[in-house]
Amino acid sequence: MQPLRLLLCFCLVLSLLPILAKSITDPGDYAILLAFQSSLDNPEILKWPSANKDPCGPPKWPHVFCEGNRVSQIQLQNLGVSGTLPANFTQLSMLSNLGFQNNKFRGTLPSFRGLTNLKYAFLNGNQFDTIPSDFFGGLTSLLDMSLDENPLNETTGGWTLPADLADSSALVNLTLVNCGLVGPIPDFLGELSNLDMLQLSYNNLTGMIPSSFAGSNIKVLWLNNQVASGLTGPIDVITQMPFLTDVWLHGNSFTGPIPDSIGALTALTRIWLNNNQFVGLIPSNLTSLPSLQDLKLDNNLLMGPIPSVKYNFTFSGNSFCASDQGVPCRDDVTALLGFLHGLNYPAQLDSSWSGNDPCVGDWRGIICSSGKVVAINLPNLRLNGTISPSLGNLVGLIDIKLGGNNLTGQIPANLTNLKSLKFVNVSSNNLAPPVPSFPNGVTLLLANNPLIDKTASPNTDPSTTPGTQSSSPSNGKAGNGNQRTSKKTNVSVIIIPMVAAGLIAISLVGFLFYYKGKRRKASALMPETSVVVHPRDSSDPGSNSLKFVVANGSNANTPLSESSGNSNVHVIEAGNFIISVQVLRNATKNFSEKNVLGRGGFGTVYKGELHDGTMIAVKRMEASVVTNKALDEFQAEIAMLTKVRHRNLVSILGFSMEGPERLLVYEYMPQGALSKHLFHWKQFELNPLSWKRRLNIALDVARGMEYLHNLGQQCFIHRDLKSANILLGDDFRAKVSDFGLVKLAPDGKYSVATRLAGTFGYLAPEYAVTGKITTKADVFSYGVVLMELLTGMTALDESRVEETRYLASWFTQIRTDKQKLKESIDLSLDTSDEETFASICTVAELAGHCAAREPYQRPDMSHAVTVLVPLVEKWKPAKDESEEYMGIDLHLPLLQMVKGWQDADVSGTTASTDMSGTCSIVSLADSKGSIPSRPAGFAESFTSADGR
Ligand SMILES: *[C@@H]1O[C@H](CO)[C@@H](O)[C@H](O)[C@H]1NC(C)=O
Ligand SMILES: *[C@@H]1O[C@H](CO)[C@@H](O)[C@H](O)[C@H]1NC(C)=O
Ligand SMILES: *[C@@H]1O[C@H](CO)[C@@H](O)[C@H](O)[C@H]1NC(C)=O
Ligand SMILES: *[C@@H]1O[C@H](CO)[C@@H](O)[C@H](O)[C@H]1NC(C)=O
Ligand SMILES: *[C@@H]1O[C@H](CO)[C@@H](O)[C@H](O)[C@H]1NC(C)=O
Repeated sequence: MQPLRLLLCFCLVLSLLPILAKSITDPGDYAILLAFQSSLDNPEILKWPSANKDPCGPPKWPHVFCEGNRVSQIQLQNLGVSGTLPANFTQLSMLSNLGFQNNKFRGTLPSFRGLTNLKYAFLNGNQFDTIPSDFFGGLTSLLDMSLDENPLNETTGGWTLPADLADSSALVNLTLVNCGLVGPIPDFLGELSNLDMLQLSYNNLTGMIPSSFAGSNIKVLWLNNQVASGLTGPIDVITQMPFLTDVWLHGNSFTGPIPDSIGALTALTRIWLNNNQFVGLIPSNLTSLPSLQDLKLDNNLLMGPIPSVKYNFTFSGNSFCASDQGVPCRDDVTALLGFLHGLNYPAQLDSSWSGNDPCVGDWRGIICSSGKVVAINLPNLRLNGTISPSLGNLVGLIDIKLGGNNLTGQIPANLTNLKSLKFVNVSSNNLAPPVPSFPNGVTLLLANNPLIDKTASPNTDPSTTPGTQSSSPSNGKAGNGNQRTSKKTNVSVIIIPMVAAGLIAISLVGFLFYYKGKRRKASALMPETSVVVHPRDSSDPGSNSLKFVVANGSNANTPLSESSGNSNVHVIEAGNFIISVQVLRNATKNFSEKNVLGRGGFGTVYKGELHDGTMIAVKRMEASVVTNKALDEFQAEIAMLTKVRHRNLVSILGFSMEGPERLLVYEYMPQGALSKHLFHWKQFELNPLSWKRRLNIALDVARGMEYLHNLGQQCFIHRDLKSANILLGDDFRAKVSDFGLVKLAPDGKYSVATRLAGTFGYLAPEYAVTGKITTKADVFSYGVVLMELLTGMTALDESRVEETRYLASWFTQIRTDKQKLKESIDLSLDTSDEETFASICTVAELAGHCAAREPYQRPDMSHAVTVLVPLVEKWKPAKDESEEYMGIDLHLPLLQMVKGWQDADVSGTTASTDMSGTCSIVSLADSKGSIPSRPAGFAESFTSADGR
């Protein structure tokens, strides 16, 4: 029996073996589960029976699922399990589904590398703080991975998705919301061809959406709310993701327009683009998407009308032209936005082009008159794109300046229908033929458009287009193709006689532009003017001047004081420098008293700051003094300033003429007038100017004046040089300002009636007496300024004793006496140093020379430059030149001097008529101020003498 029992037992065991073998869990997996269990703080939650050493069962352990004797799933979601995962956890190599979401796991994640069976891994909603860099290696079966809501940046400050994840080519869902990702979105995500859902919200991602996303099959794309600056760049790439249904891009720094091509996303049901920096119009391609149910566009820089749609739509916080849905923009705004669209909404423009009126607020580059857009002034801004035909809807356009950009495509043919159009500058771009045929009155500048240059332009007369200039070697930079083309062009003021004025009686309160037809076209190519609607562009060499005819509405019957006695139209010739009054109002805090820099005869000068931080000085004519005379000054100054450009001459940045306002905008000179530093430095708690600084100032002024006197073939006379008109920059370098009285001297062939002007104390005697002015009158004034620099005394001070009242006469007198000279020198200068004193003597001599009694005895400004350059450069001791001073009676106060010369001149002295080599004009002195009046008939006789 014994053997039989044994046999039976054996058989029983044998027959049971397969069953036993099947149900006994892999000992390795069992050991790992125990290790896992023991790493938990609250293992009791698992209810894993310690008596049952067979997790796969039966009966199997709760939450554990096996395939055969291998653990394939652990599902612990939402149990409140707390603890860490042991590093050997991933020896559960047959794991295919892990549900650990929403527990309290913490610490370092074990590497999942090599879990080739893992399909689902839900680790979201825990406290894992570190992820090993090889975590994703070889997860070739992965379908769905979530690490949402884990502080994986806690220890490292952030992590990036390892490229290993690219092995998971089957991946369908990847959700990594708020899990500490930093850096750019990896390219390989766009190449995971099965990826349906990518959620990367609330991380610290930066950079653009990778271009590899084009063609991806992703349906759900969440990139919203990156915690720092966020994702950037345009979003065009998503328009090539045709399966997108749900797109969250809000809370980033995306830029650029919403592309029209978004119309391709026909499956899109929800798109949130709010809280970015999208610009431009809302494309109808977007709002009309067939499946769209939910659109958020709030807090961007979007423009144009607000579409009216039936689904969920939010749009607040943009720059729309209207506040209600479905309300269209004004026609001109629509046209301008269309234009902006063609240029891909350049950042420089779209931030300032807002609202529903381009004539209100700061529409950079847009110039209005009487509420109509008359000019588009956007040269040299690196604008990219095409010229939109929508410009053809701006019926008031006179002037289009787009030179020096990177415009492509063709010039829209409909621009030729613009009735008022006079001037189109599209030179230095990349435009293509054909060029439409503009009517005769339109000046078209096309130079430096390589595609057009090759083909002859159909309607443009080569003499009026600078096309021939394009080969000029000086044309290195974009935008200057039309510079200096007309050096010989006689740029002259257009004078509209009274009779004709009636015909052109377009009585604008502001101004209108006028071109004198074909023959005058070339004069539009005046050199050296810059288009500055925005002073940052003042270096722009590519623009051209315009002529403005200003109807003088308020004083229509008052004859002009110069140029034409029988005209009621003021004529200004100027570059296109118009700045809107509103901009200047904003810049000067509405002409606040606090911003006043100074006051002069024609108005007040204000300090201003443009929105980009550029400081400006704005001269505003008082409304009460906008008389003909003041207008003349204003116009003369604009005309002048547009011609002169020199680093020692204060440059004009623009001007405004709107309604009664007459405003001139200059570069801001932070240290103010030289007079302040010479005479009032104590009062303003300034340091006195050192000798070195004074020398530099003297030289700067000499250079500026030299330039003025020898401007090309023309000759300008400042007429009012004085220390109050010499302005200092932060480096104490000087610029001459106030060109209101500047005269263009005709070349002596004829004379122009003008009035005596200038400031007493600086006035050259012969000018005061005869009204005849030459550049030598400026040289005299310059001499007086030098004396002020030397002595620290003002040119004229009624409160001084008679002897010293007129600086010019007193200083000339004492100058030759070394001791007296030394005593006269400004006390704040140290004359004990020999080198300095030698330098002072040289300047004193130059001052005397310049203020010589007879104009012909005075040197040219170039001489002053020659004298000063070596002093400034090395403090060379000046050599003692022989006395050249030949003045007479200079100890007399100026009034007496003037009287004496007047008598002498009347009695027939002709010395001052010898003006060879000096340009001159004859002024009819008016009898204003304390200037002695001329004997009747004197000027006339002088005029005829000069005209012989
Ligand atoms: C797994 O690791 C834990 C500690 O992390 C250790 O106690 C245990 O013995 C390990 N088990 C195996 C099977 O390696
Ligand atoms: C991906 O996620 C979606 C939405 O949660 C779900 O319906 C789908 O079953 C998931 N697919 C996979 C493969 O996990
Ligand atoms: C981790 O990221 C979160 C937001 O994703 C952030 O609030 C937190 O400050 C970051 N922590 C560290 C240590 O960087
Ligand atoms: C985002 O990441 C940057 C650098 O990658 C880091 O300097 C910054 O602190 C992070 N911001 C947050 C909120 O985590
Ligand atoms: C969207 O609009 C543009 C023009 O506005 C058009 O050319 C384009 O074909 C439209 N549709 C799509 C799907 O891009």
